Amino acid sequence: MIKANTVREILETARVDDVVGDFVNLRRRGTNLIGLCPFHNEKSPSFNVNPGRNIYKCFGCGRGGDAVNFLMEHEHLSFPESLRWLANKYGIEIEEVELSNEQLAEQQLADSLFIVNQFACDYYQEQLLNSDRGRSVGLSYFKGRGFREETIRKFGLGYAPMGRDLFLQAATRAGHKPDILEKAGLIKTDRDFFRDRVMFTIRNLSGKVVGFGGRILQKDVKAPKYINTPETEVYNKSRILFGAFHAKQAIRREDECILTEGYTDVISLHQAGIENVVASSGTSLTVDQIRIIKRYTPNVKVLFDGDKAGIRAALRGIDLLLEQDLNVKIVLLPDGEDPDSYLQKMGLTVFKDYLQEKAEDFIFFKANLLLADAGNDPVKRTALIKDIVGSIALIPDPIKRSLYVKECARLFGVEEQLLVAEVNKIIATSLKKHQQQEAARGNFPSEPPPGWEEPQAEMGLLPQAAPTAMGDEYQERDLVRLLVLYGQELFDQSAEQTVAQFIMSNIDDVIDNFDNIVYQRTTKECQVLLERGEKPSVQYFMQHEAPELRQLAIDLATSPYEFSENWEKKWEVVLNQKMPDENFIKDSAHGLKRFRLRKLTRICEENIAKVKELSAQDELEEMMLYLRLQQRLQELRNELAKELGTVVF
Ligand code: CTP
Ligand code: MN
Repeated sequence: MIKANTVREILETARVDDVVGDFVNLRRRGTNLIGLCPFHNEKSPSFNVNPGRNIYKCFGCGRGGDAVNFLMEHEHLSFPESLRWLANKYGIEIEEVELSNEQLAEQQLADSLFIVNQFACDYYQEQLLNSDRGRSVGLSYFKGRGFREETIRKFGLGYAPMGRDLFLQAATRAGHKPDILEKAGLIKTDRDFFRDRVMFTIRNLSGKVVGFGGRILQKDVKAPKYINTPETEVYNKSRILFGAFHAKQAIRREDECILTEGYTDVISLHQAGIENVVASSGTSLTVDQIRIIKRYTPNVKVLFDGDKAGIRAALRGIDLLLEQDLNVKIVLLPDGEDPDSYLQKMGLTVFKDYLQEKAEDFIFFKANLLLADAGNDPVKRTALIKDIVGSIALIPDPIKRSLYVKECARLFGVEEQLLVAEVNKIIATSLKKHQQQEAARGNFPSEPPPGWEEPQAEMGLLPQAAPTAMGDEYQERDLVRLLVLYGQELFDQSAEQTVAQFIMSNIDDVIDNFDNIVYQRTTKECQVLLERGEKPSVQYFMQHEAPELRQLAIDLATSPYEFSENWEKKWEVVLNQKMPDENFIKDSAHGLKRFRLRKLTRICEENIAKVKELSAQDELEEMMLYLRLQQRLQELRNELAKELGTVVF
């Protein structure tokens, strides 16, 4: 183990700009450095390095930390490995300390488990390739499944012989101790754990052998088809993804992880050249397994066998992926096929095309599946909507969420607002539950993570606003941004009107229709200020007594401009990537129009609903009133749309 003062020396010497600079092209901007984030795909740089604080932070994906975090995340090194890397870079001599007896024992045990597992792997392989029965039943089985010899070697495939303790005898002869063999799960009460099975070697992320899966050869017996190494000091099945060691580079390269169920699926696809494949080994996914995937890519493609029975159960595991903010696509294979069998049957080209063409977004896959089940039964349909909404609510990213809400509303033929309300309800409940749990643990929920207090304030790394962003929230935020940051600037030299005056005079009729109460409060506060003859400013809001408003002002002032190009189409927010500071006039005029258009559209929809309701109740006189209002609203809307060049339906 590295001595504490060596650790300190390394941490004090390591310069984050220096280390990051080894991997990322950085440009100077003011006192900071910026570059393209190495952790997510982007075209304009949002990756910031602050040499003063010796930390980095990406405003796009949120990743941040110091030089050590960077190495751990970027190079997938462990903490001590990162320290050694840095010591080497800066020529620091590492002093090691003696481990405590306990630590030593633990490490020695782990090391000896790795050693006997590697021995077993070699032994099973030797049996497969060189013993009579190994060749006649084991090797011929693998060959029959189309595995080439190089694949058999690469994945450490083997054969465990039939006798009761042949492995134990061989291992003892080679000097391995029975108690270690037992702790590794290789023997059990003086008998071999795996007997007369073909063997699949299970490795951890760094390639060390931690366990095995053994497949039965005879068809008729009652014994389980696969048996796996029991939990040991080095093998915890919920933390292992089969194939991850061989797949990790390809997953990064392809920026996608293909998730299958079985050992043979992984090996078969890998052999065919599709290397970014891992398997959950038949169990449902765990959070630890998902975290492994997430280290390499946010994109997961799940291949489902084409039998309906398993799908329902598997859907639940997929919700976990959503919750971890992964983008999940589903490919349903034809009935009775698994990835291995289908690939072997169709060949690589057809198989690849199939994956490409049939990949369906998880939410829509689930929605369609359930829709088909529910038919026209209203009770089932209600349950289905609740089910889907439950899945959508798990997605941490509000933008993704609203996209799904829109699509699902269309798919189910229900009002978008209805789904929005449902989603928000679920989020609110789980947020409350979370806060209660945190409070019960004695944590103050909005506290920043340890070690970030100071840098956060300086770099504007404050936690994001409440995670219930839905509806018109993006337009609202944009408007509030203009009010707070540029409210006191002159909008129009000749009329001597400020940006705030201009905006407020244009939105007082919709001010009660905000979706986000913090944005609404800020806007109303601006109104009061203007009435008193004062001007809204960042400083004013930064010193506000209400912490939400303070937080928002700091957020707005410190976030780099946060909208990207295709957001404009999707979210109708005003964009100006280059120099937002100089474009507030154009921004305000344009942003305001977009905002009004959204709000008017919403009011129109509500109005139409009212008309329908009144007509159903035969309240014709009142209905006429609403109809006339509708006409006026539509005129306003069309005017606005024309100015914006948008088509309204
Ligand atoms: N599995 C298991 N125990 C079982 C059955 C399955 O651990 N009794 C795990 C194995 O990791 C297996 C995966 O679940 O690879 C998928 O099961 P299955 O589809 O039955 O196996 P395949 O890998 O397709 O194996 P084969 O093609 O040889 O039948
Ligand atoms: Mn199979």
